Amino acid sequence: MRAIDSEVKPAAAGTRFSDTVSYRMEHGVLVVTIDNPPVNAASATMRAGLNCAIVHAGITEEVRAVVIIGSGRSFVGGADIREFGQPMAEPTLPQVVELIEASDKPVVAALNGVALGGGCEIALACHYRIASRAARIGLPEVKLGIIPGAGGTQRLPRLTGTLAAAEMIATGRIIDAEEAQSLGIVDKVTDGDLARQAIAAARRLVVTPPRRTGELAVAVGKGADVDALADKVLAKARGQIAPAEAIRLVRLAAEASLADGLAEERATFLMLRDSEQSKALRHVFFAERAAAKVPGIEHVEPRPVATIGVIGAGLMGSGIAVSALNAGYRVICIEQTAERATAGEKRISALLDRAVASGRLDADGRADRLSRLEVTANMNEVATADLVIEAVFDDLTVKTDLFRELGRLVRPDAILATNTSYLDPDAIAEAVPHPERVLGLHFFSPANIMRLVEVVRCDKTTLEVLATGLAVAKKLGKLPVVSGVCEGFIGNRIFSAYRREAEFLVEDGALPQEIDKAMEDFGMAMGPFAVFDLAGLEIAWARRKRQAATRDPAERYVEIADRLCEAGRFGQKSGKGWYVYPDGKRTVDPEVTSLIEGSRAAKGIQPRGIDAGEIVSRLLAAMAAEGDALLAEGIAQRASDIDLVMINGYGFPAHKGGPMFAAGRS
Ligand code: 3HC
Repeated sequence: MRAIDSEVKPAAAGTRFSDTVSYRMEHGVLVVTIDNPPVNAASATMRAGLNCAIVHAGITEEVRAVVIIGSGRSFVGGADIREFGQPMAEPTLPQVVELIEASDKPVVAALNGVALGGGCEIALACHYRIASRAARIGLPEVKLGIIPGAGGTQRLPRLTGTLAAAEMIATGRIIDAEEAQSLGIVDKVTDGDLARQAIAAARRLVVTPPRRTGELAVAVGKGADVDALADKVLAKARGQIAPAEAIRLVRLAAEASLADGLAEERATFLMLRDSEQSKALRHVFFAERAAAKVPGIEHVEPRPVATIGVIGAGLMGSGIAVSALNAGYRVICIEQTAERATAGEKRISALLDRAVASGRLDADGRADRLSRLEVTANMNEVATADLVIEAVFDDLTVKTDLFRELGRLVRPDAILATNTSYLDPDAIAEAVPHPERVLGLHFFSPANIMRLVEVVRCDKTTLEVLATGLAVAKKLGKLPVVSGVCEGFIGNRIFSAYRREAEFLVEDGALPQEIDKAMEDFGMAMGPFAVFDLAGLEIAWARRKRQAATRDPAERYVEIADRLCEAGRFGQKSGKGWYVYPDGKRTVDPEVTSLIEGSRAAKGIQPRGIDAGEIVSRLLAAMAAEGDALLAEGIAQRASDIDLVMINGYGFPAHKGGPMFAAGRS
């Protein structure tokens, strides 16, 4: 093939192959632009357009090479997930991808933004990949309970070797352009004009035969390394099918022909796409996007926030401070005394040190964060904050006194947030002038790690303040879920119902260890009794004592937890609770078993064997019923918000979709 000369005339601008795929000619290169907002997903019209482009290039003499580029911030965000569950229109993505790879004329992928899933697979089938520095590349299908279905498991290992491919596909990790280049996935990274450079590369490539990824040999990683990776990934996957399938298919790439590997990949993809796990994870994907939507908020501009005040530098406050520092905010942390301020500063530094030790942060990043931090016992320093988050002891008098003082110190338009778990934020808001600027930001511990933040909309919170709370939480990298005001908000209300039913089960005949095993086998990160012990039993005990006077005597009440607390068994911290912890190891305690038996006998309850299926269904039903109540009371906006809270704050398995999804409510 001869090199392209620059006399070839460009075609008319604005020419289209389909609604979502347009093209222009530049110096003999067909520049194909994908324009399918919001993320350029590979929908039916996009696939048809791309298919047309490659066919057109093949039969049109003036076209010597092709560049595929995305418009906006994405190259291609993947297959169109909304089409899953519908009959698949031809051409399918594997057909388009194969056509691209088979092209005799060079096809260059110009990765202008995210190239994920099917988008990455399109790029892998091209003969050359050039990426802008901002591009992000990955095969995150496992997060949707599937594996790549358009050649990703077979082509990626041909560029990176089996180990790196297995790691990327089985974890769904998304990488930046530089890492993609170092792994051999992209050929060049540029800060310059991507389209121009892609066209130049395409023009250079016409003189050499296309380098087809599918024809390359797979560099096989050490078997032991892939085995070790598989063990690690599968231990974390806790019952999810897709990660194991991903590793199996990457291994197959090294053993089978491309055609056989692709056929096996496609069959596995289709099987997983129709699985309950994938339906659940797709529900979670859309639930996360829906959670940010609050009626009336669409056109409300959040207030600018540059400085965040954090009151209290204990476990929770220091976690919140680190989160805010990571997100680029200036942070003023207030403690009660100079000694406590020093201890708080140490706690924050230690969290940053841990991030450095684990490679998540470098020394410059640490220094930058510390340069934006002030920890002081001088409360007046908080005056410059745009948003103040209190994380002090969860006591109404302590919090209202603090808010009264903050009301005097901060600007009248500064937003005030309480991190209370159980108190009434409306009562706290009444302590300040302009209570409409108060909201709840309920972080979960450790706050620098946990993704969930319940954004509590108080009676008087304005939409602008709510929008600001959501925007800040998002900037912190969190998943904000809006909750109305009630005791415990969404998460702790559901968790209380779960606790109640778990205790009923014990009284009815199941033992804590049986219940924990059933729920862990179901996929919960920890069984309920292990969680009670970890969190400590004393707070729930104090609450039960507070409620005793007003409790309906006809209501079923299990006293076993009270007996444990009376015996000084407050959970893991005290070395014993529902279990004992010799050397920190959770162990069944015969003393607890006899206490349970005694308690049943005292109530005249004849215990019966309860199997794992009944345990799981009763606990799920209890959570879903409480979820129904939260929806009826208007505390939660939608069932899927409840699912997100339980998945991200309480260890509910994402691949089961959350308690409302599992119960068929969302
Ligand atoms: N299909 C359909 N809709 C999608 C989509 C997709 N692949 N990706 C995103 N969307 C939608 C979202 O639902 C959202 O819609 P909404 O505005 O109605 O709520 C909108 O696009 C914007 O999405 P985000 O809010 O997530 O936008 P961001 O800019 O924050 O993030 C993104 C963009 C990084 C592309 C992110 O959306 C994302 O991670 N998407 C999913 C990527 C993915 O998993 N791809 C693999 C798909 S499966 C596949 O490709 C199978 C193949 O192997 C055959």
